[in-house]
Amino acid sequence: MATLATKKPNRLPGILEHASGDKRFKILEAHMKKHQFNQNALIEVLHKAQELFGYLEDDLLLFIAYKLKLPASRVYGVATFYHFFTLKPKGRHTCVVCMGTACYVKGADKLLAAVEKKAGIKAGETTPDSELSLLTARCIGACGIAPAVVYDGTVTPRQSPESLLTHVKGWLDHDH
Ligand code: FES
Repeated sequence: MATLATKKPNRLPGILEHASGDKRFKILEAHMKKHQFNQNALIEVLHKAQELFGYLEDDLLLFIAYKLKLPASRVYGVATFYHFFTLKPKGRHTCVVCMGTACYVKGADKLLAAVEKKAGIKAGETTPDSELSLLTARCIGACGIAPAVVYDGTVTPRQSPESLLTHVKGWLDHDH
């Protein structure tokens, strides 16, 4: 795996641009602001990031490092040190089912059950062919469009078991 430090120089502008259009980054930034961008709040911030995104990927870690004015290596080091943090899973595709309250009351558990059954894996796992990683998040900041699912980074509103299965079907039936 390339280190974050080597990727940092040219990726940051793109990450910040992407972040400006993704509400989850705004919520995360508000959370950092609440902690006055205090570097000692790093673990707390990483927890919040994982709640919002389901896992911590490089871009997210770089964003946090930039905002907290910490070296990317430090943020990456902390994220990899603690077992309760999940780094980007190895599946080619990711499906994050929001299990926060608003989504849950609108049937997120049924969404999760449907995709677990179809893919034959549990939340937190990746299919043996590495096509799909399935994750959950606690609230992705899209309660108004619950239940929401994030397919490969795209927040998608008002999902049903049927729409979810339609979405992941192509990923699971890869050899057709
Ligand atoms: S609970 Fe799912 S977006 Fe808030």
